[in-house]
Amino acid sequence: MRKISFPRTIELVNGKVRLINQLKLPHKLEYIETQSYGRIIKAIKKMEVRGAPAIGIAGAFALVLAARQFQKGDLNETKEKLNQVAKEIMNTRPTAKNLHWAVERILGIIRRSEDEKSLVMEVEREAKKIALEDEESNMKIGFHGEKLIKDGDVILTICNAGSLATSRYGTALAPLYRAWEKGKEFEVVALETRPYLQGSRLTAFELKEAGIPVKIATDNSMGVLMEKEMINKVFVGADRITRNGYIANKIGTYPLALLAREHKVPFYVCAPTSTFDLGSTHEEIEIEQRPENEVLYIGGWRIAPEKVGAIYFAFDITPPRLITALITEKGIIWEISPKSLNKVAGKEGG
Ligand code: MRU
Repeated sequence: MRKISFPRTIELVNGKVRLINQLKLPHKLEYIETQSYGRIIKAIKKMEVRGAPAIGIAGAFALVLAARQFQKGDLNETKEKLNQVAKEIMNTRPTAKNLHWAVERILGIIRRSEDEKSLVMEVEREAKKIALEDEESNMKIGFHGEKLIKDGDVILTICNAGSLATSRYGTALAPLYRAWEKGKEFEVVALETRPYLQGSRLTAFELKEAGIPVKIATDNSMGVLMEKEMINKVFVGADRITRNGYIANKIGTYPLALLAREHKVPFYVCAPTSTFDLGSTHEEIEIEQRPENEVLYIGGWRIAPEKVGAIYFAFDITPPRLITALITEKGIIWEISPKSLNKVAGKEGG
């Protein structure tokens, strides 16, 4: 059996957070090591760490570092400061539910804590649990989704929903890794994913490291690839899944889903239930808009005339009618509805 080894994207070791600096990939596998929660906040903002589950874990670890730093003897004062830091963390990137979910989970621990020493220990325990649970969820997504992959498939993906976007294994790439380990033969086409190039820099990097054949295509090739029947499955991740089954994911996902429907290509979304936002509908999703210079410059070079601006939405929203199935750690959802999502999330009713 083939065995793929995955470097850890982010971990908490010996009082320090250690994370892969994803802006250096694919040229250098370089780590950031820090005891400063502010440095983690900066890493999320700069996208040195990115991907919905990975930024959730980064946010939780940032609160561990903050709890250690503020531990001075006054419980209420420490709680107050940690609440401020939590707000700062949640303001870094608005779209990914996992970030808010993870920070809220740590805030629950902070609220219930009755003395400072145990607060630090409990926050650390919970943050590590979040990271471990993510790893376990992704492994299960891999087990469920692998069954959908056949020998000879050519699978299209966008952005990076791989190991680098999570604690390990990835979401959309987890079924591919599992299928590969089981000996299935298939190929992947990674959309480049302008302007941050998560597809060409990160997805191509991790698939190549795993030994899975991968080619890069520019985002605007998605039509011709479908029309020429060069793709027979699409796997993508998600940053937020609302109660009415809409998904927010990297910009370009929505046109990809429309094309897949037009060409009768199955469109699979893979995400852990920590991405579910059952309290909101798609109208309430805040789509992150990033600085226009990220579009206007490549590698420090301006690629547009001076005094011309840019529109840069980092995500778009895909309706459930275009999604063939949602693959979660709890199984595959073929009929996406408030009822089925509630059931999978363990909340009955609908
Ligand atoms: O802007 P990014 O790189 O954080 O966007 C990431 C994505 O859109 C991923 O597809 C999504 O987070 C799912 S990752 C498991």
